[in-house]
Amino acid sequence: MVNGVRGTRDFYPEDMRLRNWLFQKFHSSSLSHGFEEYDSPIIEHEELYTRKQGEEITQQLYNFEDKGGRKISLRPEMTPSLARMVMARSGTLPLPIKWYSIPQCWRYERTQRGRGREHYQWNVDIWGMEGIEADAELLSVMVHMLSSVGLTHEDVVIRISSRKVLEEVLGSLGIEGDSFTKTCVIVDKMDKLPAETVSAQLSELGISDSSIATIQSVLGVRELSDLKGMLSTDSPAVIELEGLFRLLESYGIVEWTMFDASIVRGLAYYTGPVFEAHDRSGDLRAICGGGRYDKLIGTLGGRDLPATGFGFGDMVIMELLREKGLLPDISSRVSDVVFSMDESLRGAAMMVSSKLRDSGRTVDLVLEPKKMKWVFKHSERTGAERLVMVMPDEWQAGKVRIKDLKTGEESDTDFESL
Ligand code: HAM
Repeated sequence: MVNGVRGTRDFYPEDMRLRNWLFQKFHSSSLSHGFEEYDSPIIEHEELYTRKQGEEITQQLYNFEDKGGRKISLRPEMTPSLARMVMARSGTLPLPIKWYSIPQCWRYERTQRGRGREHYQWNVDIWGMEGIEADAELLSVMVHMLSSVGLTHEDVVIRISSRKVLEEVLGSLGIEGDSFTKTCVIVDKMDKLPAETVSAQLSELGISDSSIATIQSVLGVRELSDLKGMLSTDSPAVIELEGLFRLLESYGIVEWTMFDASIVRGLAYYTGPVFEAHDRSGDLRAICGGGRYDKLIGTLGGRDLPATGFGFGDMVIMELLREKGLLPDISSRVSDVVFSMDESLRGAAMMVSSKLRDSGRTVDLVLEPKKMKWVFKHSERTGAERLVMVMPDEWQAGKVRIKDLKTGEESDTDFESL
């Protein structure tokens, strides 16, 4: 087959330069907040993902049987692998754990703008902290990254709610436990599916029409103060969210955020605050999303440990940056092009290149006989700063000629002092 697999991408050097630039921003924002990098294999036991709450992600697995008859899946997300790693060292890792990673994830999705069948997903998570301070710190990392690529709160909004809002409402309607989780997974599709489809799916769960109406009216709320009227006056969900917004004010990032009760997220394991960032124009899919998942390890058979985090894909952000003209113009990183005037000086050019490379320069040595015109064009293409020419008379005198490609100035330099 000459084509790559549908929904996957090739990264040509010019794409790779941009990807590295983006990943560098992921790294530096994580490090600026004291997070440490981790990694894990791209394959896991399928079992790690076979949750039964109707989540799309569990139906999109790239799974297969390996030669030993094991059921294996490419990871569709990083969180279960992280939970597995934390579980394996349970009790020995100093808390809180503040880790980040940039894994490639695989989901058999319907491909569309900003969604592919593979993507890289920056994951930032904190384990071992119950308080909303951890959630606020994560939002700070997220905003740090968004600012570092030149976006502002006029471009992006982070919508925040809490699973506890719906939990309180549904609890009062007698919808709890597994039914509650399934309801969240369905409700998450409100903006993607027609209202009737969502209502029908909720009915199938045994939720009455009046309860569906209540759910819908709660999800429409966009002001925390309005929510107060709908929940009990001392609603823990509202108190927690108010606390969270106060912390965001202290971080100086509250203008990037808003309360939005319709944010519930489509993954079953969330238990508390949940958040998603979107472009303000609303043209693109979510830029990133996450939330608190205090009970994930329990579902994997371990002892629960509070956790919160987010995943931030590489596709939507690139679309947005391209749209806003914020992608940098990055040329390759060659500092010197080295060129010998004739065949007999090839060895000399290699010596010159080695010396320059040892001194830390990035050198592209012209390996074949080429005309001067080609060399100049090539230097321009690579964005080199200098052209180092090995010429017969100069080399005899122990010198090379250096042309500064910005100013056009030429000078002869001793080989020894290169
Ligand atoms: P998620 O909302 O499924 O959450 O994915 C998080 C982000 O990954 C999305 O907002 C989007 O940027 C990117 N993403 C997801 N699927 C695709 C796709 N098919 N193509 C391109 N980008 C995609 C999770 O995965 C959670 N595990 C995040 C998390 C970490 N929660 C706590 N910690």
